[in-house]
Amino acid sequence: MKNSAENAWYFLAPIGISIACGASGSLPETDDPSASFPHFDASISPSPTSSSPSTEGPEAPAGAIPIPKEAQRTNGDPARGYRAVVNEGYISLGIPWSGFSFAMTPLKARDSIPGREGKNALVGYANNVMTNRQGMELAVPNCLACHAARLNGKLFVGLGNPAHLPAIPSGLATNQALVTIGLRTPSEFAEYQEYTSRILAANSTGILFPFGALAAHRDPQTLAWSSIARFDAHTNLQGWVDVPPWWRTKKKNGLYANGMGRGDHVGHMMNMSVFSVQDVAEAEHIETMFVDIAAYLRSIEPPKFPYDINKELAAQGEKAFIHTCAPCHGTYGSNESYPNLLIPVEMVGTDPSLAENPWPNADAVAWFKSSYYGKRARLEPARGYVAPPLDGIWATAPFFHNGSVPTLEAVIDPSKRPSSWSMSFDETNFDPRAAGWSTAGGGPAYDTTQPGLSNQGHKFGEALSSDERLAVLEYLKTL
Ligand code: HEC
Ligand code: HEC
Repeated sequence: MKNSAENAWYFLAPIGISIACGASGSLPETDDPSASFPHFDASISPSPTSSSPSTEGPEAPAGAIPIPKEAQRTNGDPARGYRAVVNEGYISLGIPWSGFSFAMTPLKARDSIPGREGKNALVGYANNVMTNRQGMELAVPNCLACHAARLNGKLFVGLGNPAHLPAIPSGLATNQALVTIGLRTPSEFAEYQEYTSRILAANSTGILFPFGALAAHRDPQTLAWSSIARFDAHTNLQGWVDVPPWWRTKKKNGLYANGMGRGDHVGHMMNMSVFSVQDVAEAEHIETMFVDIAAYLRSIEPPKFPYDINKELAAQGEKAFIHTCAPCHGTYGSNESYPNLLIPVEMVGTDPSLAENPWPNADAVAWFKSSYYGKRARLEPARGYVAPPLDGIWATAPFFHNGSVPTLEAVIDPSKRPSSWSMSFDETNFDPRAAGWSTAGGGPAYDTTQPGLSNQGHKFGEALSSDERLAVLEYLKTL
């Protein structure tokens, strides 16, 4: 497969702007096959998280760097946050409704999500419908092209899209020519043109995260857009970044795979607004939504493993886990702890590309620091990876920051890691025994010999006997 970092901004593909992408198109389009699968519900019920886990667990391994806890704005309302994620215009440039509705593919029930209001209920889950300050109705991108995924026939808001490809649900306008036919007024044309020009800017660095490419066009203080980029936002990042599940944010002090998202999480969660924000007044308006969105993210509970678990085996696994894994990943259950450790790349041994070439390059980090966002939060890239919380880990394959390992079994036993594996990500392709994606599915191959996609490192399971590895695998399914 071609280096998929070139996918640039996932959700921009549907409007037909060409993105370089070695793998073909969309997620598998099967109808709900779930009859024979156990179901579970993504809990969006608020659970106050004032009691964050203690950091007093097993002693941290030598060389690990603790990421300190920092003050967070916790006065948000989770229910309002969910409502905002799936209805509001925190990204405020999009396709005028006239053109979008004219070109939209028919919405299938499987691409609907709960809580959609007004016209939001008419479109697929990866767009919201909002009215901008000029009173124009727009279908705008939302977070869910990347932060929603289907597992066992059910769509989960907050589960990372595992496909490393644009999610192209039904209820989307994918045909640019049709959109253009549907537009009615010169101001709608102008709006659409502005939207497409921002997409070109977002795609200009060819990496998944367009933050730097877009920030380069803005005055950091006033956020005013100019057509000329102020700095070169390119980075040597290769491979791709696997999308983490949202329910981890309640435990993490540093967001992102390398822990660089320091300070107030709200300042990071709202950074996608560099795509569209018009000025500081709009940023302030969006920020109030993100205080609620941050509360919603903290309220999400991971789904429970929906298949049988051998409890006795899992209890044995817990003992081995506490000894071998908990020093980095923390403890779970009644005696919960999470140490928030950054592990230097040499120590964990997984692919170094992201740690060495983070998606915001030095110029983008400097822009962030002097910007609106930088008054709230800090970007501090470091040469390592966070040992993430393992809550709900069974649901989040493929594993590691680059998604290079398809099952938990193979995370624990490096000898079982396939060097090339097929990633159909068909939603019924889940392997309950190995806890991850069955590698037998069709679809493009994930080739771990490509730059950025290595499946090496993290060999900590080698310290265990094969019986212990089986037991730890069973234990991980209980988290
Ligand atoms: C283009 C795809 C895409 C979109 C759209 C997107 N994200 Fe993300 N998000 C990612 C990826 C990829 C990462 C991991 C980046 C990394 O670790 O370097 C991430 C990471 C995060 C994290 C950090 C999680 C952690 O465990 O460290 C949060 C929080 C987050 N996103 C929130 C949001 C919100 C809120 C939105 C909508 C406003 C959004 N994202 C839109 C792809 C996306
Ligand atoms: C020295 C610290 C350390 C130890 C010990 C350790 N891990 Fe990890 N683990 C990490 C780091 C760092 C990552 C992230 C690596 C990356 O993304 O490249 C990770 C990632 C993982 C992941 C994948 C997470 C994801 O979302 O993709 C799993 C699963 C995991 N570890 C399980 C274990 C188990 C089971 C053990 C014990 C056998 C263990 N780890 C021991 C540091 C550690």
